Amino acid sequence: MSKQFDVIVIGAGPGGYIAAIRAAQLGKNVACIDAWSTTAGTPAPGGTCTNVGCIPSKALLQSSEHFEHAKLHFADHGIRTGEVAMDVSKMIARKDAIVKQNNDGILYLFKKNKVTFFHGTASFVKAVDGGYEIKVAGKAEETLVGAQIVVATGSNARALPGLPFDEDKVLSNDGALRVGATPKKLALIGAGVIGLEMGSVWRRLGAEVTVLEGAPAFLSAVDEQIAKEAKKSFDKQGLKIELGVKIGNVDTSGAGVKLEYTNAKGEAQVLEADKLVVSIGRVPNTNGLNAEAVGLQLDERGAIVVDGDCKTNLPGVWAVGDVVRGPMLAHKAEEEGVAVAERIAGQHGHVNFATIPWVIYTSPEIAWVGRTEQQLKADGVKYKAGSFPFLANGRARALGDTTGMVKFLADAETDEILGVHMVGPMVSELISEAVVAMEFKASSEDIARICHAHPSLSEATKEAALAVDKRTLNF
Ligand code: FAD
Ligand code: NAI
Repeated sequence: MSKQFDVIVIGAGPGGYIAAIRAAQLGKNVACIDAWSTTAGTPAPGGTCTNVGCIPSKALLQSSEHFEHAKLHFADHGIRTGEVAMDVSKMIARKDAIVKQNNDGILYLFKKNKVTFFHGTASFVKAVDGGYEIKVAGKAEETLVGAQIVVATGSNARALPGLPFDEDKVLSNDGALRVGATPKKLALIGAGVIGLEMGSVWRRLGAEVTVLEGAPAFLSAVDEQIAKEAKKSFDKQGLKIELGVKIGNVDTSGAGVKLEYTNAKGEAQVLEADKLVVSIGRVPNTNGLNAEAVGLQLDERGAIVVDGDCKTNLPGVWAVGDVVRGPMLAHKAEEEGVAVAERIAGQHGHVNFATIPWVIYTSPEIAWVGRTEQQLKADGVKYKAGSFPFLANGRARALGDTTGMVKFLADAETDEILGVHMVGPMVSELISEAVVAMEFKASSEDIARICHAHPSLSEATKEAALAVDKRTLNF
């Protein structure tokens, strides 16, 4: 006998579990199916983000940052320690415990909101009436029928052609988050978000880290001035980043990994490392969905094709998050999940792609919203720019971290904020003010006239807004 639901959500990552909760809040009878298991075989909802993405990576970034501070910066504060040592297995165990708290938290939220959770792999099957049902293959087999189906099956790490992940020497994000001891030498391919975050973790813990990047420019999606400032810091820290490389043969037959590549000058190079992380982007995941059998349309990248409202080509089937177009970010997936649940309930769901913030949680952190200076130039938009360095911010001095700046880009005529770009301490938190401002179509003058607490890092935001009109007060 099939079980009937108003809404069936496939995948309990940030896109899926949030869609399920919002639909339940709106009075729908909701099922959510997720395949992820703990090593003990129990459910581990939360998707990539909770299990092998956002949350565990930030846990390791925090631990490794504490370690580096204890080693390098405590003495500046007059704190004397003995020898500072790192117990990597304890750090990994702490990270695992945080992941488990998040898994359990989502199961609790499902109960609280009366979402029925199924642990298993969901696939579309053709029903006798010509429609489709959802089969769940888990401990027990179930067949579910839903008026509306939301696909939120996420993404997987992209492997280099001919070099599958073995998660021992050739690691995806999954393996990179559970290395048992600090490798002496770590190589990473791809100086994108994962390459920089994971490279930072293991460098701070003492690995000699080399990141090989195919593109000639560093972080080309980031405002050039900000990317340059960040690169300067990474160079100083000893995070070796080589741009414009072409990866050749990768030999894993020895004790470690031997990597042949040509550098930007076209010279043949060999890099030997104990482990290699491949972080060259992610591919949408529709594995096991049986999408073809029901005619669910995919694009050439394997992403589910959706319209602006996240509707697929099949009636009553929606898709959100990493499995569709747009940035592969947890908060984008969540916003789409909420919007789809609200549309299903007859409301007006809304996602503003122009104000989705990006954050790279390195040290210094990098954060931005809106268009970069190079994009504005390419779009032929007349703009004014203003920036303020953390060097001139009292709170940053007290923190002992004066790296970086806040930069505003505003329309030359109307003064509307077009982009805000930051590199420096805690900018992951500071960027929210810029997101709110842009969502409300604020001008740089609006921010410049708002009272900001002193001493706070957020004063750098106000000062950068003042700088647009060339009237910074503290620089
Ligand atoms: P996912 O989180 O991938 O969830 C999909 C779920 O669907 C999974 O649980 C999967 O098991 C399940 N599933 C798949 N197929 C089926 C099926 N057929 N049946 C049942 N279940 C199925 N983003 C940020 O915004 N901030 C960050 O700091 C950040 N850090 C990251 C760090 C790393 C190392 C990585 C890899 C990613 C990071 N991301 C970050 C990206 C973020 O994790 C993703 O954008 C986000 O998880 C996408 O959410 P989703 O719900 O679309 O998919
Ligand atoms: P990415 O797209 O951020 O970076 C991939 C990098 O690899 C690019 O710089 C690209 O030029 C390079 N590259 C691609 N092919 C290559 C090749 N053959 N040789 C050398 N270099 C090559 O992808 P990444 O780092 O894998 O992360 C995937 C996604 O996960 C991110 O785009 C982001 O959406 C999400 N993520 C978000 C985080 C955050 O919000 N803080 C943290 C980590 C991941």
